[in-house]
Amino acid sequence: MTFADLIEKKKQNQQLTEVEIDWLIKSYLKEDIADYQMASMLMAIWFNGMTEKETAALTKAYVESGITYDISDIQGFKADKHSTGGVGDKTTLVFAPLVASYGIKVCKLSGRGLGQTGGTIDKLESFPGWKSEISDNEFKKVINKVGMSLMSQNEGLVPADKKIYALRDVTGTVDSIPLIAASIMSKKLVIENDSLILDVKMGNGAFMKTLTEAENLAQAMIGIARQHNRQIAIMITDMNKPLGKAIGNALEVKEAWDSLNGKGPEDFNHLVATAVAITLVQAQLFDDFDIAYQSVCQKMQTGEAAHIFEEFVKAQHGNFSVIKNYDKHFAVANSLEIKAMSSGYVNFTNANQLGLLSMRLGAGRATKKDKIDFAAGIYLNADSGSRVNKGDTIMTLFTNKGIDPNWIDMAYQTFEISQKQTKTPVILKIIK
Ligand code: URA
Repeated sequence: MTFADLIEKKKQNQQLTEVEIDWLIKSYLKEDIADYQMASMLMAIWFNGMTEKETAALTKAYVESGITYDISDIQGFKADKHSTGGVGDKTTLVFAPLVASYGIKVCKLSGRGLGQTGGTIDKLESFPGWKSEISDNEFKKVINKVGMSLMSQNEGLVPADKKIYALRDVTGTVDSIPLIAASIMSKKLVIENDSLILDVKMGNGAFMKTLTEAENLAQAMIGIARQHNRQIAIMITDMNKPLGKAIGNALEVKEAWDSLNGKGPEDFNHLVATAVAITLVQAQLFDDFDIAYQSVCQKMQTGEAAHIFEEFVKAQHGNFSVIKNYDKHFAVANSLEIKAMSSGYVNFTNANQLGLLSMRLGAGRATKKDKIDFAAGIYLNADSGSRVNKGDTIMTLFTNKGIDPNWIDMAYQTFEISQKQTKTPVILKIIK
């Protein structure tokens, strides 16, 4: 069999075997298959899709292409959490300490942000000295001491996905459900956690623009988890508006700290408490989701898990005091208030644009080499769905750059004020 035969087979919408998929991924990594041939295969997959078995085989081939993390010597139930990426998404920073406060271990690999969505590692680097590049031994030491650790994904993590993602990016094949599912899940399966809660974002600030697309991606990832015997639950959540009120690195860390101390915004608290409660049920610490949810909310109110976040940051060499003295450490040269032009109910409708604006203010990278300004970003003073009067502050922009008048136009395009109140739920669907 030649690679051309396999392309022909996929083009005719026939199922590839596990052996064939394994061979094509290995051959591509060895450069026995050229980019133009793989591009043709990816386009055939884009048109014809993949079955659950094919997608699981592709994921397996991805996982086997690089290093895996052995955490079998860490005692207890080990939980993981992942988000497909959204604006203002600082969930991990609150999820992990809360889960750890129940004795569950959180062993997590995280990434950096590119474009309008931020990355957890970038947010945590708001703490001067905080290190994400730690050895496997240090990772385990921090988990055993604190109950949680986050380290950055190794450059060599899942090399087959890295190479194929770069090709997808330039061949119009990124938006294929099986290819996205295999790409995301391979990076989760390299570390042997017991459970996974996945937050699939849906809306203009996310990869998946419609509920149907998000559901299809969720089902593809559940299929992979099933084939790999991994416990999984998926939340599909709204990303037409940002999560919480803070967008930008230090601003989001501060909001996470507030949430751990009973002062977080309602939508964010609800999403985090749901993710934690699902994990507690997965770990069989609770039989009933509602009771687990109430227990988590109580811990958030009393601030019981906050010390774990502080200990974790310090254990990875971060100076935690900056967040307690926020105004001193994250003062900016320019802050700009965006005011309501009329009275009515405010609704944030364009998370994507808020993410782009935050990036322009200095909070994100347009290219991998760009430097991040931790203090830059946006704070949404008004709550989505709340009543505002003409002249009230809707949001504040924080930057150390000179003010660009285009930012003001951009900011006004991200919300509407109408006479009708609309309140949309943050969690659209839970699939277990
Ligand atoms: N995130 C990934 O890791 N891979 C994709 O293909 C899309 C989003």
